[in-house]
Amino acid sequence: MTDISILILAAGRGTRMYSDLPKVLHTIGHKTMLQHVIDTAQTLDPKFIGVVVGHGKEMVQSSVSSDVVWIEQNEQLGTGHAVSCAIDKLPDNGYTLILYGDVPLIDTETLREIVQKANDDTLVILTDSLDNPTGYGRILRDNQQNVVGIVEEKDANDEQKKIQEVNTGIFVIPNNKLAVWIGNLSCNNQQKEYYLTDIVGMAVADKLKVSTVLVREHYLSAGVNNKLQQAQLERIYQQNNAIALMQKGVTLHDPNRFDLRGKLVCGRDVVIGVNNVFYGNCELADGVVIEENCVLNNVKISAKTRIRAFSHLENCTIGNNAQIGPFARIRPDSVLADNVHIGNFVEIKKSTVGEGSKVNHLSYIGDSDIGKHSNIGAGSITCNYDGVNKFRTEIGDNAFIGSNTLLVAPVKVGSGATTGAGSVITKDCPNDKLTIARSRQQTISHWIRPVKK
Ligand code: UD1
Ligand code: CA
Repeated sequence: MTDISILILAAGRGTRMYSDLPKVLHTIGHKTMLQHVIDTAQTLDPKFIGVVVGHGKEMVQSSVSSDVVWIEQNEQLGTGHAVSCAIDKLPDNGYTLILYGDVPLIDTETLREIVQKANDDTLVILTDSLDNPTGYGRILRDNQQNVVGIVEEKDANDEQKKIQEVNTGIFVIPNNKLAVWIGNLSCNNQQKEYYLTDIVGMAVADKLKVSTVLVREHYLSAGVNNKLQQAQLERIYQQNNAIALMQKGVTLHDPNRFDLRGKLVCGRDVVIGVNNVFYGNCELADGVVIEENCVLNNVKISAKTRIRAFSHLENCTIGNNAQIGPFARIRPDSVLADNVHIGNFVEIKKSTVGEGSKVNHLSYIGDSDIGKHSNIGAGSITCNYDGVNKFRTEIGDNAFIGSNTLLVAPVKVGSGATTGAGSVITKDCPNDKLTIARSRQQTISHWIRPVKK
């Protein structure tokens, strides 16, 4: 919308978070509240997005990668003062939508509804109706139900405090009036602040229409002032994610025990057990099952693969019909092909595992390439690090690595090769042969067990 500019107020400290982090950098679904607001603002395709920063501004600025205009408010003298700091940057015409950096779950639908009402003779206010309106600015109406102003909690009399219709703080203001109104604000009130809300009375005096839109759900305009409110919005956000997935056919064993901290794309017949957490960009193809208590971060999983309970997967790709876990750890830059089996207490890092290969018990495979249909015995370890440099291990197809083999990289094990259990392999192993590198077993026949003196 080319005639809309958006201002996000984000200069406040957030005293009640009791945190060194500026308030707007606290997160919902692993994304900062400010980034949520910026991302939603961008969906309107506005002329520009300005963010008013003050407390911790360096930290706030470096947390945002989006293209926004930064406006500094060095002293927080109120919401009206915050807007005054931005006034030079706003175009002379068009409309300004005011958003708050600590109201993270505002959505595109609500914003579209209010900006559609914008015109040069109207001020639009998003309102809510609350059973307990304490703390909010109240909407004042005359006998004909026309809005005549907003009174802040601290300035309200007892009658006004009973009003349940509140200001969410979100406005759409015609720019050709805004500069004048802002210039006329005073801080003649209980908090000695410049209140943006005072422009409502000015709009009425200037014979503008003041139009209100009641928000469809409380959470959309709910602000976060403390950790409890943050946690409440986190739950709502997660419920909404769960609902969206279930509506597309994903089975969630318990939508209340599901956490999305990034993006998740699912195919048909995907099943997700309880207590799974998804970070980054994850993709689960048709028929994938994630059992309980797994963490997946930037993982792409092909059809019908099962991730068994308590597995941790990061920056990796897994083929069809594979079985991973329980208790598996797949670390970055690992590519596991179709039908691979990775079992309990196995760690895979920066490695490829070919089709049908198995690493079922207690192994570390790092910086390795394993061919097809090979079996890595229990307790086998690739010794990839000499304390300074890392080296690769190569294992061919159909290899059989005996239990507790140590493969001291760089080293190659040929196709069809077998290593004896307990071997320390320091040299390449030829194809189709058994290689053993351990001391021979012997029995000492003249040995006598000591007895107590
Ligand atoms: C404000 C509204 C109130 C409304 C409520 C909704 C005013 C005067 N009051 O009150 O009517 O019901 O929001 O939550 O507008 N900020 C700045 N610079 C400042 C002051 C604030 O950037 O100098 C930012 C804050 O970081 C925050 C937002 O503006 O994101 C709101 O400020 P806050 O102090 O929380 O306003 P309230 O007193 O809650
Ligand atoms: Ca507030």
